Amino acid sequence: MKKILVTGGAGFIGSNCCNALVRDGHTVVAFDNLSLGTGDALEPGVQLVKGDVRDAAALQALGPVDFVIHLAAASSAPMFTDDFIGSIANNVLGHVTVLEYARKNGVQKVLFASTSSIYGNNPTPLTEDQRVEPPNFYSVTKHAQEELSSVYNALHQLEIIGFRFMSVYGLHEEHKGRFANLVSQFIWGIEKRKRPVLYGDGNQTRDFVNVRDIIEAFRLVLETPKRFGYTIFNIGTEHALSLRELVSVIGGIMGEAIEPILVPNPISKGYVMAQQADASKIKSELNFEASVTLDTGVREIVEYRKKHKKEPVSLSF
Ligand SMILES: NC(=O)c1ccc[n+]([C@@H]2O[C@H](COP(=O)([O-])OP(=O)(O)OC[C@H]3O[C@@H](n4cnc5c(N)ncnc54)[C@H](O)[C@@H]3O)[C@@H](O)[C@H]2O)c1
Repeated sequence: MKKILVTGGAGFIGSNCCNALVRDGHTVVAFDNLSLGTGDALEPGVQLVKGDVRDAAALQALGPVDFVIHLAAASSAPMFTDDFIGSIANNVLGHVTVLEYARKNGVQKVLFASTSSIYGNNPTPLTEDQRVEPPNFYSVTKHAQEELSSVYNALHQLEIIGFRFMSVYGLHEEHKGRFANLVSQFIWGIEKRKRPVLYGDGNQTRDFVNVRDIIEAFRLVLETPKRFGYTIFNIGTEHALSLRELVSVIGGIMGEAIEPILVPNPISKGYVMAQQADASKIKSELNFEASVTLDTGVREIVEYRKKHKKEPVSLSF
C-alpha cells in the first residue's frame, strides 16, 4: 500500500479520488487551501491538511510520499476573470512548487490535471498529437503546466503524467456552484423546476465523463510498471452529446419534461463548440476504457441528493 498526496483533495475530483484511494487501502493526504473545496465529502481515513501548493515549506512539512496527484488549481476559465493574476500564479507557481517538492522527496510519479480546453475548437475526435492553441487564460496555464512538466522531466527524470480530462461530472460538486459541470448544474436547477439556459442553439457538444472513470485512469497509471517519462493522456468516453440532448436525458431521469431556454452566446471568443475525446492512447497503453454511462452517472447523483440534500453555492442560470 502506498502513501499518496492529493493536492486539491478537498475539491470535486480530489475528494472522490481521496475516498476511492483510502477504500483501496492507501494512506491518503488531502492537501487543500480550502479556497473552494470544503472537505465535507471526505470519508474518515483521509487526512485533510490545510495548506497552499505555492507554499514550499507547507508541502515539505508533509514529509515524503510515494505518489502525488496534483489537482489543486484555479479550476475554471471564469475564475480568471474574477482574479486574473492570482489564478495565473496559482496554476503556474503552484505546479512548479509541487514538482520541486516531488523531486526533493523522491516521489515515484506525479499525476496532474491538464484539460481538454487546451484543444479549443480543434477538429474532433481530439487526439493528443494535435497542435493546440489554448483559447483562454485557464487553458494557457494548463498548457504551461504541460510544457513545464515536459522540460522538468527532461532535466530531472521525474515521472510526470498529465491528463486532459473532457467534461468531468459526478458526486460532490456543490461547492463549485456556477463553476460546476453542466450535468450537476442542470440537476440542481431541475430539482427547483428551473429551466436550464443554453447558449446559442444548444447543439454544442461535450464528452461527459464520470469522475469514477477519472479515478480508474489514475489507478491504472499508479499501478502500471510502465515508465512514460513525461506523457499526456486524454480521458473521455469518446461519445459526444449536445446540451439539448443532455437536458432531455436528465429531465427524463428526473421525471420532468423540461424545455431549455436558448439565449445568445455571451462568450464571444474561445467558446468550444464540439468536444469528443479520442482515448485510444490510454486504451492501448493501459487498457483504459470509460465504463460509467451517462444514464448511470446521472441516476447516481439524483438518488444520492435525495438522501444527502446539499445546496450548491450558486448556479450559472
Ligand atoms: N472538473 C472538470 O471537468 C475538469 C476538467 C479538466 C480539468 N480539471 C482540472 O482538475 C482539477 C480538479 O478540478 P475540480 O473540478 O475538482 O475543481 P475544484 O475547484 O473542486 O478542485 C480544486 C481544489 O483545489 C483547491 N485549491 C485551489 N488552489 C489551491 C492552492 N493554491 N493550494 C491548495 N489548494 C488549492 C480548491 O480549494 C479546490 O478544493 C483542476 O486542476 C482542474 O483544472 C477539471
